[in-house]
Amino acid sequence: MPLDIRERFEAELAEIPDDLFDRERFVGGVGPADADVVFVGEAPGANEVEQGEPFVGNAGRVLDSLLEDVGIERKQVYITNLVKVRPPENRDPTSDEIEAWRPVLWAEIEAIDPAVVVPLGAFASREVVERDAPISDLRGETYERDGYVVVPTYHPAATFYDDSVKAGLQEDLERVAEMAGR
Ligand code: URA
Repeated sequence: MPLDIRERFEAELAEIPDDLFDRERFVGGVGPADADVVFVGEAPGANEVEQGEPFVGNAGRVLDSLLEDVGIERKQVYITNLVKVRPPENRDPTSDEIEAWRPVLWAEIEAIDPAVVVPLGAFASREVVERDAPISDLRGETYERDGYVVVPTYHPAATFYDDSVKAGLQEDLERVAEMAGR
């Protein structure tokens, strides 16, 4: 990460109010600073906090297997979360949390300047495409936000409950792989 961007990222991190920044539950983004694709999840869970990396639990295994299917190497993409502190009891992130962490997410995206941003699930997708709609309506399309190409898709954990979600997620990731020139 170039120094000026790293400084901006650190500056945004310093702005997070103390009550929303429990360092014991914090998980930062992981991946190369020049990645072509940035994935944005919702918030870390227990496994992520334990290992200090996003998407390393059950949802991560689904993501890994789909990435492999479409020919994207996990180590070549950047993976982060909308909210970077694990919410208590894995509850949904609140609007205060999303608002507080928003500048950090955009500092990351601008630092990496990827070819494609892929928000996973409703919370991240609504944030990145700035539309309040169900994820089933948002996915399947390509959007533009601040000059970035955005392909919202289902959260990998949604495949646990509905088989058709997996097919949709795979279809979206195939488009992402094409856009990223894989
Ligand atoms: N779910 C998310 O949204 N993010 C993670 O890092 C793990 C699971």
